[in-house]
Amino acid sequence: MAPVLAEPWDVTEFVVNKGNGVKGLAEMELPCVPKQYIQPIEERLDMDTVVTQDFIPIIDMSMLEDPQVADSICDAAENWGFFQVINHGVPLDILDDVKQATHRFFGLPASDKLKYSKENSSTNNVRYGTSFIPGAERALEWKDFLSLFYSSDQDASAFWPPECKDAALKYMKTSEPLIKRLLEALMTRLNVKEIDESKASLLMGSKRINLNYYPICPNPELTIGVGRHSDVSTLTILLQDDIGGLYVRRIKGDGWIHVPPIGGALVINIGDALQILSNGRYKSVEHRVVANGRSNRISVPIFVNPRPKDMIGPLPEVLESGEKPVYKQVLYSDYTKHFFRKAHDGKETLDFAKA
Ligand code: OGA
Ligand code: NI
Repeated sequence: MAPVLAEPWDVTEFVVNKGNGVKGLAEMELPCVPKQYIQPIEERLDMDTVVTQDFIPIIDMSMLEDPQVADSICDAAENWGFFQVINHGVPLDILDDVKQATHRFFGLPASDKLKYSKENSSTNNVRYGTSFIPGAERALEWKDFLSLFYSSDQDASAFWPPECKDAALKYMKTSEPLIKRLLEALMTRLNVKEIDESKASLLMGSKRINLNYYPICPNPELTIGVGRHSDVSTLTILLQDDIGGLYVRRIKGDGWIHVPPIGGALVINIGDALQILSNGRYKSVEHRVVANGRSNRISVPIFVNPRPKDMIGPLPEVLESGEKPVYKQVLYSDYTKHFFRKAHDGKETLDFAKA
């Protein structure tokens, strides 16, 4: 039976402050979404803008010795900003485990999850929340999340929730070779011969893993799972389940393309940091997630980032040929602070780094 709530029914209190999340709301089986979740029309996905005859590339990583594969990775980063990889080397049971761990964490009672909220968490590296920035948004997003910033094994083992820490760490560690291979391939076209220590810091000096939970929604057409945004990462490695709902804006041509779930595949996208480092050659692309009326959906992105203390700007190797810098040097932590100060707004964060 649905819990009985005292009037007046304070949705924000229940969802945000009490830690029930949208999951708690969904479990009440309300006939319609509360008004806080009704998005302005321009932020909902208009299905007429969805292009069904176009697909983001699917790249077979087992053929990486073939120079054409590195080429297709670079082409995808320039022309789509998004692609999927298969035969990527991350063991499938590890992907299954982290999906299970995600369900395990969100299956906890609200009072347990609330221990990891911004107000209660004993560390800034672990944060349970809902929507993106409830205080700064005109309408809320139909999504709960747990965000885990990796600083060391010791820190993770002490502070990450026991329901998911081993699986999340394993997923992060076993995806490392894939991340390196992708970055090496992407660097060749930028004239970067070797990923030395300072490049490694800029390209993959820090990592954040999010567990995302998108509960079933009574009016999926009125709200959104995640609003239009680009990631602030260099690369994002995203594991999604078999529900679907992620849409990507096309670079070449108008409209949005669905990213179809492919069993065992990982979705890769370019983030703002790599767009800046490559002086705009590789594109971070706007994407969004629709809400879903049939099932709960989960996804698990790994955000591969520069270190917070790194200065990021167009790489010298890219500018060698006389190309004009489109972006200036910015402190990465200032860039991410700017991103987390405002509601999702497409690609506007990048203006912060414009030359
Ligand atoms: C994100 C994101 C997409 C998804 O977490 O930044 O875009 O499918 N997620 O959950
Ligand atoms: Ni994203």
